[in-house]
Amino acid sequence: SNIPVIAIDGPTASGKGTVAAKVAERLSFHLLDSGALYRLTALSAIRRAIDMSDEHALAKVAEHLNCSFVGHDVFLGQENVTQAIRVEEVGNTASRIAALPAVRQALFGLQLRFRTAPGLVADGRDMGTVIFPTAKLKVFLTASVAARAERRYKQLIGKGFSANMDDLLADLQARDERDTKRAVAPLAPAADAYILDSSNITAEQAVEQVLRWYAEKQ
Ligand code: C5P
Repeated sequence: SNIPVIAIDGPTASGKGTVAAKVAERLSFHLLDSGALYRLTALSAIRRAIDMSDEHALAKVAEHLNCSFVGHDVFLGQENVTQAIRVEEVGNTASRIAALPAVRQALFGLQLRFRTAPGLVADGRDMGTVIFPTAKLKVFLTASVAARAERRYKQLIGKGFSANMDDLLADLQARDERDTKRAVAPLAPAADAYILDSSNITAEQAVEQVLRWYAEKQ
């Protein structure tokens, strides 16, 4: 496909989601929040009381995911699950089932379909390495664990959830560990990715940097 893709990968709470959304807005590109697909699969599986060790059953859930994205809202069937997929339990379950090859395989084709004109900004863990290896620009957005925990804390409090800093730090570390050590599509920068450490810069500065790199590719 000639349709340009900007892949933004990185660990949990590195600011990928915010940066990807703003870059997409600035370029009038489509947006793929691939983490939401794993979260939707997790939520759907939790609700159906699927055995989390049953890879085949989980892959079926992923394959038949009846989801849609409307503006900043995410729907499962007719239900708006924008908030529901953000809770920690769903994030943790998503990170567990994301280690299963059959689940990743089941979500593969769905992700490719987001590549439509005039272009796509895709955020996740394996956008530049596995899903869109031909992306025009690949960015690996990182930040220190402390900076990410603080961001996640503010995000949760801002949304009216309760949060505990120690729990968040432990959770981030556990999730990083699972995401980087899994056998399939582990979190790692693509060989041709630009590394951007967002610990000490604002989201707006990160957006400007991504846009400059993209402009250089034209
Ligand atoms: O980015 P987000 O926190 O929403 O992703 C939830 C989980 O989904 C991550 O912890 C990760 O394990 C998984 N994920 C993945 N590949 C992606 C996006 C997310 O494995 N492309």
